[in-house]
Amino acid sequence: MTAQIIDGKAFAANLRTRIATEVARMNEQGITPGLAVVLVGEDPASQVYVRSKGRMTKEVGMASFEHKLPADTPQADLLALVERLNADPAVNGILVQLPLPDHMDEAAVINAITPDKDVDGFHILNVGRLATGQKAMVPCTPLGCLMLLRDRLGSLAGKNAVVIGRSNIVGKPMAQLLLRDSATVTVAHSRTADLPGLCRHADIVVAAVGRAGFVKGDWIKPGATVIDVGINRTEDGLVGDVDQASVEKVAGAMTPVPGGVGPMTIACLLANTLTATARANGLPDPEGLTP
Ligand code: GUN
Repeated sequence: MTAQIIDGKAFAANLRTRIATEVARMNEQGITPGLAVVLVGEDPASQVYVRSKGRMTKEVGMASFEHKLPADTPQADLLALVERLNADPAVNGILVQLPLPDHMDEAAVINAITPDKDVDGFHILNVGRLATGQKAMVPCTPLGCLMLLRDRLGSLAGKNAVVIGRSNIVGKPMAQLLLRDSATVTVAHSRTADLPGLCRHADIVVAAVGRAGFVKGDWIKPGATVIDVGINRTEDGLVGDVDQASVEKVAGAMTPVPGGVGPMTIACLLANTLTATARANGLPDPEGLTP
């Protein structure tokens, strides 16, 4: 079998077109969704992400507000900026780019964002809402993975899913979303015994470990769907957590790196900003953009 390669780039472009249509409809009602992105310091990867976030925000017709602060900014100044953005009616979504410099308390900064503007879905209230099945803002990368999985598989009910990685940004929220769709979910991590054996029972494998080419073809059940969240910079360029050469011989479908999950993350950030704007204006949630 040769796996179908899931075109996340095309899926994300399609999603952005739908979002742009919704934004145009809001414009007719005098509403312009606004996204504020805050970058502290000069991490090169973060600078690249923030630039493309700003560009795509404007491309779908939203207002983009970028705030760049030096690496030695006192935490109190960052918190003061977050407070200003919380109170600004032109700002519907706030994203503070992570990682923050070492002298800052990431949880304190994230939890200072108004939960309804927390388009990353990292605020403790949104984490709790997602875990208890309440209306939440949902982290962008897992939301993108869920959209790709539903598109490929339809209902996820009863599927065996293994999520490799237990981060707050991907692994844990991914597990919650899969559970919400009635999959049977196992969260694996660096201390999991016999990870290959575990994966062989999985209809769905989501790899988010941050190790280049970690997941091999002989771990995969024939026909399974494999989602690769990894972005690893190696001598061979950008590679995922999945060894594409061996996995594509066994899987039914898989996402490539680049061009799989990556483009979905920013598209879902825009989707969350649209959802936050709709909710702030008493409009119904835009269709198909929330879990
Ligand atoms: N750094 C890496 N990924 C992310 C993300 O999804 N959101 C934020 N805020 N920072 C990140």
